[in-house]
Amino acid sequence: MSTIEAAVQLRNVVRQFGQQRVIDGLDLDIAPGEFVALLGASGSGKTTLLRSLAGLDSIDSGQLRVPKARAAVFQEPRLMPWKRAWKNVILGLRIPEAKARAVQALTEVGLAHRLEAYPATLSGGEAQRVALARGLVREPKLLLLDEPFAALDALTRIKMHRLIIELWRKHTPAVLLVTHDVDEAILLADRVIVLADGKIAEQLRIDLPRSRDTGQDGFQAIRARLLNLLGVEVDAPAARPPAINLRRVAHG
Ligand SMILES: Nc1ncnc2c1ncn2[C@@H]1O[C@H](COP(=O)(O)OP(=O)(O)O)[C@@H](O)[C@H]1O
Ligand SMILES: [Mg+2]
Repeated sequence: MSTIEAAVQLRNVVRQFGQQRVIDGLDLDIAPGEFVALLGASGSGKTTLLRSLAGLDSIDSGQLRVPKARAAVFQEPRLMPWKRAWKNVILGLRIPEAKARAVQALTEVGLAHRLEAYPATLSGGEAQRVALARGLVREPKLLLLDEPFAALDALTRIKMHRLIIELWRKHTPAVLLVTHDVDEAILLADRVIVLADGKIAEQLRIDLPRSRDTGQDGFQAIRARLLNLLGVEVDAPAARPPAINLRRVAHG
């Protein structure tokens, strides 16, 4: 198979379960090194799409091209409880100097001191870092992330955001991050796509300079726009009436 220009190229992809067409003629391109966030209502087919991209599930029709070197991280770390952290990282891999590679990957995610730990002794954030190291050690050209931070506390999530950006910059894989968190999508991605009715309903390029924060210029306007696309009514900040009007309304 020839090398492909785009990291991901989907054409008219269909995936259905019985009569239910979860993915319904989806077209999607992701450029090498591009960071894309995928938003969509619960049950809109985000995980189904990601599993197909990861090679964990098939499609019913259409064309799906992905790099061979790809890795996926899910909401749960999916570690083998009877294997130490470093062994989990290289599980199923046959590579030379496997332990050294595992140590390197764990060091990159800040876990050099937890190499020998068993999963049960790791915090939620640490376990997700091990899962991330397991992805990294495969040197993916495409990193698939299915709500990997959703189960973490807010502080750990902020640290993971920083880590993921740092690793993305260093290793430059294309990333597809599934999230239900609009802020997370805007903080991290080059482009946010919204999945609805089995297709891309909307997409938005995020040109905000990094590193980003929710208080920066332009952030709230993008947030309002995305929330509107997701069916949550919010006024864009610029369209908000001045404070004095609000007060007048409040006091009748
Ligand atoms: N293996 C399966 N068999 C039958 N239905 C499935 C299967 N996997 C997913 N579905 C259905 O496909 C729809 C999309 O699911 P999913 O991709 O998990 O959504 P999301 O990740 O966006 O919440 C849901 O209605 C779900 O019940
Ligand atoms: Mg899902």
